[in-house]
Amino acid sequence: MEVKTSLLDNMIGVGDMVLLEPLSEDSFIENLRKRFDHNEIYTYIGSVVISMNPYRSLPIFTPEKVEEYRNRNFYELSPHIYALADEAYRSLRDQDKDQCILITGESGAGKTEASKLVMSYVAAVCGKGQEVNKVKEQLLQSNPVLEAFGNAKTVRNDNSSRFGKYMDIEFDFKGDPLGGVISNYLLEKSRVVKQPRGERNFHIFYQLLSGASDDTLKKLKLDRDYSKYNYLSLDSAVVNGLDDAANFRTVKNAMQIVGFMEDEVQSVLELVAAVLKLGDIEFKPESRCNGSDESRIKDKNDLKEMCELLGIEQSVLERAFSYRTVEARLEKVSTTLNVAQAYYARDALAKNLYSRLFSWLVTRINESIKAQTKARHKVMGVLDIYGFEIFEDNSFEQFIINYCNEKLQQIFIELTLREEQEEYVREGIEWTNIEYFNNAIICDLIENHQNGILAMLDEECLRPGTVTDETFLDKLNTICAEHQHFESRLSKNSKFLTDHSLPHNCFRIQHYAGKVLYRVEGFVDKNNDLLYRDLSQAMYKANHSLIKQLFPEGNPGKVNLKRPPTAGFQFRASVGTLMKNLQTKNPNYIRCIKPNDKKASHIFTDSLVCHQVRYLGLMENVRVRRAGYAFRQAYEPCLERYKMLCKRTWPHWRGPAREGVEVLMADLPVPAEEFSFGRSKIFIRNPRTLFFLEERRRQCLQDLATLIQKIYRGWKCRSHFLLLKKSQIVVAAWYRRYAQEKKYQKIKSATTVVQSYTRGWQARKLLRELKYQKRCEEAVTTISAFWHGTQARRELRTLKEEARRKHAVAVIWAYWQGLKVRREYRKFFRANAGKKIYDFTIQRIMQKYFLGLKSTMPSMSPIDKSWPARPYRFLDGVHRELPRIFHLWRCKKYRSQFTEEKKAVYEEKLEASEIFKDKKALYPSSVSQPFKGDYLEISTNPKYQKLNSAVDEKVLLADVVNKINRANGKGTARIFLLTKKSVVLADQKTGQVKASVPLPDLASVSVSTQSDGFFALRLKEGSASAVKGDFLLSSEHLIEIITKLHRTGATAADSKQLNVDISDEFLVQFKHDKVCVKFIQGAPKNGNSVSCKRKNNRLLEVSVPTTA
Ligand SMILES: Nc1ncnc2c1ncn2[C@@H]1O[C@H](COP(=O)(O)OP(=O)(O)OP(=O)(O)O)[C@@H](O)[C@H]1O
Ligand SMILES: [Mg+2]
Repeated sequence: MEVKTSLLDNMIGVGDMVLLEPLSEDSFIENLRKRFDHNEIYTYIGSVVISMNPYRSLPIFTPEKVEEYRNRNFYELSPHIYALADEAYRSLRDQDKDQCILITGESGAGKTEASKLVMSYVAAVCGKGQEVNKVKEQLLQSNPVLEAFGNAKTVRNDNSSRFGKYMDIEFDFKGDPLGGVISNYLLEKSRVVKQPRGERNFHIFYQLLSGASDDTLKKLKLDRDYSKYNYLSLDSAVVNGLDDAANFRTVKNAMQIVGFMEDEVQSVLELVAAVLKLGDIEFKPESRCNGSDESRIKDKNDLKEMCELLGIEQSVLERAFSYRTVEARLEKVSTTLNVAQAYYARDALAKNLYSRLFSWLVTRINESIKAQTKARHKVMGVLDIYGFEIFEDNSFEQFIINYCNEKLQQIFIELTLREEQEEYVREGIEWTNIEYFNNAIICDLIENHQNGILAMLDEECLRPGTVTDETFLDKLNTICAEHQHFESRLSKNSKFLTDHSLPHNCFRIQHYAGKVLYRVEGFVDKNNDLLYRDLSQAMYKANHSLIKQLFPEGNPGKVNLKRPPTAGFQFRASVGTLMKNLQTKNPNYIRCIKPNDKKASHIFTDSLVCHQVRYLGLMENVRVRRAGYAFRQAYEPCLERYKMLCKRTWPHWRGPAREGVEVLMADLPVPAEEFSFGRSKIFIRNPRTLFFLEERRRQCLQDLATLIQKIYRGWKCRSHFLLLKKSQIVVAAWYRRYAQEKKYQKIKSATTVVQSYTRGWQARKLLRELKYQKRCEEAVTTISAFWHGTQARRELRTLKEEARRKHAVAVIWAYWQGLKVRREYRKFFRANAGKKIYDFTIQRIMQKYFLGLKSTMPSMSPIDKSWPARPYRFLDGVHRELPRIFHLWRCKKYRSQFTEEKKAVYEEKLEASEIFKDKKALYPSSVSQPFKGDYLEISTNPKYQKLNSAVDEKVLLADVVNKINRANGKGTARIFLLTKKSVVLADQKTGQVKASVPLPDLASVSVSTQSDGFFALRLKEGSASAVKGDFLLSSEHLIEIITKLHRTGATAADSKQLNVDISDEFLVQFKHDKVCVKFIQGAPKNGNSVSCKRKNNRLLEVSVPTTA
């Protein structure tokens, strides 16, 4: 929850001085100091806001603060200028009351800042919308423009308003701003030509020179250097914290927003430049022969440039600076001006030019911001007028300013008291008048139409004859001598004759804010505010639209011989209008106080504050407020705030609020005279009573807090307890349920067990019974089966016996019959008939067998081994012999189909089979290969023609063989030829016969049992061929070669059959050595090839791969 600080909560000191106890000047200032030290710059006196200038920015003007104070009652939150602005705005909007906000205080106290804060607050809280925002913006942006032209740095304030400003902001019935009207009061124009030490001219001059572009300055014929201009004091041309260049841009922007046209801005700047130029025009004396003193312009360049700027003919202006023409009814008298008069004329022109420009600016702004509708509107006026001024040297301006402040003080006293009194009357409270200092008497001293100081000044100014400031003082001395607030050394009042603090050329007025000593010098001139007609006419002639407007009296066609109203008169009139205006409105006061003279934050100078408190009449303000009732509050909020102090009103009071408050107050130990009941408010006389109420309330709040805490804690504990209880019930319920469930499950399982036992027992019992029954039934069945079996067997036995008997009978009968038949037919049968029957039977069986065999004979293929089964065992011998006979016959049949060649081939194959079958592993692979004989086609191949011719006989076999080298076991290809007579080995390439061995020389052939193709041709010892030794050869057609060799050897007439040795180890005679050729199973690494290696002198090892 957002914590809000009420006026009465967490107060630093007291927020409302009315509640200050004890009330004294010291406690008042102490309270201000305490609050100031804690950054509480605002304090109330009832509805009046005292504002201390913090001289630094505080974080209390944020949009959040605006929201905080928006639509809140005045005393609801801690004192703030926003509370006052909100109160004023809401009573304007809701109660249709025109408002004025009077901001007073001395120079630098923060009036202008306060007025801007009020305006910005109102702008923030009032309605929104495109048009409304434009109006708001224009109203707000009028400030920078007026400040630039009307503010200056003074010793008291770096941004001192040198004019009085009253701004009426107009609102429609909804509270949306419609526009505004600004009134300005007495610009301190003397500043244009001369500034006191440590002060500056108006900001705009410096802003223009430092902020304008080079181009603009060139157009305005200006130089950026301040020192070039006589009217600009160099003392404090640069002010700390003031950026003139940036401010110039802000001003130009603001002028644009307010609605100034480009050419208007240019004209304004030209006028400002012209004023600066004017200051640089200097005069020199020139004596005429008639003895009169004349003046001449020293350097006409500035004059020329100024005339160019304003479009004035140089000669016209030059003449205006040299002559003064006085017109009286019908005559016109021109007199020359001496140097002093020329300077006076120049300065008068500069002052007039500037002050009229300022008034024009205000009018122009008013034109822009004026409400566009004529509908009835409500008004909030904000008055930011110069504060009371007491300088060392006080002149006409201070007199005027202080007069204005007197008037404001008066209106303040009047309105405050009147409001106070009216409120008492309104509320029906008894009221006795309170004594206070009424400054009407001072106002009267100044403004009285007959013998007021202003009236006398006017009179003096208008009087023909020699009029000087001294004559004016004399007049005052005569007329005001008796006035208790007027003091002068030369007055008739003898008590001042010896007062040395009062110089002779001065008079002193006891203002409400203190005594001020005025030097009369310049009073008459300033009041006259004289601008020579020649100058105004010269200005009117200018070819510059703005200048022309500013000097209408220079129009020769409308010459007005009447003297223009004096400055004092004008001011009195406008102040009078202002006062009337203010009196019609509901006043809201902001009293600004300056904490120190150093423009420094955190410094609180008691004496300075005390002085301001005194002259602002703040103590009186508090006293007046307290003389009646120190505090008042509407019944509703009062009851709301204090209802806890009485049991009957707490916590709710059902009846009207007033009765509630009455009951409440009656219940409290407060004397009846301490409070009064108004119509809508209760009035509390003494702050102590309020503090008593507050203290009681605080205690009560503490008790209430304790009570609330107690109830809350009780409630919390109870809730907690109830929650626990509820939870406990839930837990208990769940637990019981759980326990019951468990118990139930136990009982259930026990029941189930008991039940199961019972059922089991019953079942077993039943089973036993059933089994018994079944056994009985089975026994019966068995018995009956046995019985039936016995019966059946018995019957079977009987039947079998019967059958046996029948068979026996039949056999016996047959035998008997046979015997009888044989006995009977014996005489008819021969003795060997049995044998014949037997033979016949056998014959018939054989016959049937053979005939059956005819149809079941196997095929004619010699390799078909099938043969039909024999029907009788006695046919075993036939069954063995017949297939063999059939096979031989079938083979004979098969052979008979062969041609002679095929027959020879098969014979060879048969012979090969006889030689090698089951003896050499190579043989099976040769069976399917036909024996081709001539593999080299030796007779036809021309390559072997020579070899062919070398061999006489027919070649039976020609093939390429490898001749194994006896030395290393490597083979050399040789052509192997077999003829009927010999074996020839020839070179494969050349066909040259290497060896020719007659078949009879061959002793035997040796081969291995394995799948290799090695064979050794062993020669007969002693034969002619045996000289070179045996041949060890290898061939792919080993089986064919050996078979053919064997056959040929057999058929040769002169040779014995050739021996074929089949063994894995045989000897070969190589020349003189016998070498053993040994065949071994080759290692797998050698692959599938046969390799032959010479192992040593006696051994050649042939490794043969294993056949799968
Ligand atoms: N509320 C504020 N917060 C911060 N600074 C402030 C505040 N009020 C005033 N000041 C400072 O004090 C200076 C003077 O204030 P301001 O110009 O409002 O005085 P003034 O009363 O208008 O004086 P004058 O009568 O000379 O015009 C401001 O320039 C600003 O620096
Ligand atoms: Mg100001």
